[in-house]
Amino acid sequence: MGQIIDGKAVSKQVRERVAAQTKELKQQGITPGLAVIIVGDDPASQVYVRNKEKACEEVGFYSEKFALPENTTQQELNSLVETLNSRKEISGILCQLPLPKHLDDKEVINRIDPIKDVDAFHPVNVGAIMIGDYNFLPCTPAGVMELIHSTGVDVSGKKAVVIGRSNIVGKPMAMLLLHENATVEITHSKTVNLREITRTADILVAALGKAKFVTADMVKNGAVVIDVGMNRDENGKLCGDVDFENVKDKCDYITPVPGGVGPMTISMLMQNTLTAAKIQNNIK
Ligand code: GUN
Repeated sequence: MGQIIDGKAVSKQVRERVAAQTKELKQQGITPGLAVIIVGDDPASQVYVRNKEKACEEVGFYSEKFALPENTTQQELNSLVETLNSRKEISGILCQLPLPKHLDDKEVINRIDPIKDVDAFHPVNVGAIMIGDYNFLPCTPAGVMELIHSTGVDVSGKKAVVIGRSNIVGKPMAMLLLHENATVEITHSKTVNLREITRTADILVAALGKAKFVTADMVKNGAVVIDVGMNRDENGKLCGDVDFENVKDKCDYITPVPGGVGPMTISMLMQNTLTAAKIQNNIK
């Protein structure tokens, strides 16, 4: 059976590292600060935002939550972002997505000062990732790289296959693997003969959002399998994009859902907020 990658343990290590560096920064009079904006009352978003606030407290950050009503106008949201851009004690700004339908998320993201864009969603930061000269990495792909590193498997020269091409996960994931010298193939819903491609993967990242889609026959013996999915199965139980029970016997390493990629995302957000505070204060 493959080894299970413990996302909670790796996530804890990242937070401890961030907390230790935050302590040092505070001795120089600098406290990283994160502003989290949430519009409306989507229950899943509320849970995410609460967890982000808790994580800030855990690592010693200052945090402020802006819970805006469902009927907030684009203009109100834009002007909040602009105020936060100019506030010195706010190192990072995150606007929880999805926004209510009448609001344009692109307009908000484009307004966040790139140096405070701890999600790395602003086109300037997306472009920086493309050329490998970045301040921030998007949280989920960055978390996946930490999990792969935790296995000790060297990415260089390996064949990596990413299933999914979203701007938040699939595309940046492929770039990060490429930066570490993997040979990368991005696949998606229109890919022909997907199984033949995934079977060539030494590293397989599933980020398509379909419950238990990746079955054992799609996986190479000895692969590292990373499951970014977060779905409900036929019994309403939380599950990933990978058929964990069957795939685990075929691969060398696999992430569970829950307890794999999920815990990493917020830890990487903490890492980005710390980086933002350092850059804004000219600290290397
Ligand atoms: N909604 C779901 N995931 C994310 C994320 O990583 N960042 C933001 N801002 N919203 C999200």
